[in-house]
Amino acid sequence: MIKLVTIIGARPQIIKAAAISRAIKNNFSDQIFEVIVHTGQHYDASMSKVFFDELEMPKENYNLEVGSGSHALQTSQMMVKIEGILIEEKPNAVLLYGDTNSTLAAAVTAAKLHIPIIHIEGGVRSFNKKFPEEVNRVLCDHLSTLIFVPTHSGINNLLTEGFNTQNKSPYTSDNAGVFFCGDIMYDNSLYFGSHVEGRREYLIDLGINNKEFALVTLHRPSNVDDPNVLTNLLNTFLRISRNSNLPFIFPMHPRTKKIFEERIDIRLRKSIEESDIQLIQPASFIEMTLLEKHAQIIFTDSGGVQKEAYYFNKPCVILLEETPWPELIDSGTALLTGSSPEKIENAFSSLVSRKNELAFPTIFGDGQAAYFICKKIVEAFSN
Ligand code: UD1
Repeated sequence: MIKLVTIIGARPQIIKAAAISRAIKNNFSDQIFEVIVHTGQHYDASMSKVFFDELEMPKENYNLEVGSGSHALQTSQMMVKIEGILIEEKPNAVLLYGDTNSTLAAAVTAAKLHIPIIHIEGGVRSFNKKFPEEVNRVLCDHLSTLIFVPTHSGINNLLTEGFNTQNKSPYTSDNAGVFFCGDIMYDNSLYFGSHVEGRREYLIDLGINNKEFALVTLHRPSNVDDPNVLTNLLNTFLRISRNSNLPFIFPMHPRTKKIFEERIDIRLRKSIEESDIQLIQPASFIEMTLLEKHAQIIFTDSGGVQKEAYYFNKPCVILLEETPWPELIDSGTALLTGSSPEKIENAFSSLVSRKNELAFPTIFGDGQAAYFICKKIVEAFSN
């Protein structure tokens, strides 16, 4: 039996881990045994528990309750606690997802204990090290034994960084490998996308059932931590909503909500309250899937939501200067705008005017990433 310690902490990681736990339960339960550690990076029920419940994710075996803090504080507290668990559990490998501080803390700790690291969603790069996620991704990949890469551009990134063409990481042991596997989030979108229609009352309650609306999500420090930037973005959404007579649904991340309530001018908050922009609680996975499926267009700075827009054939305005998913830009269905009001409005007009010409061919694998990953883990660690 292969023992894995899975380390998660932030909302998107719980969602990704659910796909692997599902594959283990359905196909590999006699070969892989998983111990789940939640760092507690996300702790509000709407950012964590709801995803465990909805995605049928097994409850964590450990919760480190680290919570929020500066990067160094958050990461170091996680490291100390993870070290104790890894020494106690002695897993064959740790299983890590994506690019958050939870990923980094676990990678550094496991590497120092000589425990192999399996990195899911490796190879992805935005080439901007001002984003903490970019730092986390690069470091985690270079400490990993098995790297599962969602895109061909991700494989190219790793080749450029010195990983060689025989699927070997230059830094690790014999069973090392770099594999294209497609996007594990696509597994979830396919699996849950067909089940969500039974929850249409969510759209009815929001008053948008069978209506056109735009969906917006915003949580990157570069967009929300500076109140001037956030003010510009909010004013832009107000203008687009008014000029196009388009309601906006805006599930608000706690980071954004805090700045919104504490640092945004009361008059702007009042204008939003009186407008067709609805601020709502962070959406659960099923609720988000429903919103994405039924929106006309999506504005986001989330790495996950920009891909989900594509899975549901929706045009997307990416509120960032760069994306780790260049395939989306190449497809012409998504445009990068950063936080510039003019670029956002132009992107909106351009995507709306080309609405009927947009095409969404399959570029993120076949929706079977979790099965492929488990199979490779079994091959690499079963003797
Ligand atoms: C983190 C990840 C980001 C990911 C995002 C998904 C890092 C560096 N960033 O960003 O890559 O896209 O998660 O959501 O790891 N807060 C709450 N309740 C919570 C969690 C957070 O109120 O349950 C608030 C706190 O004010 C906290 C702030 O949100 O200080 C930021 O949380 P943090 O976990 O540091 O980063 P995210 O912005 O969520």
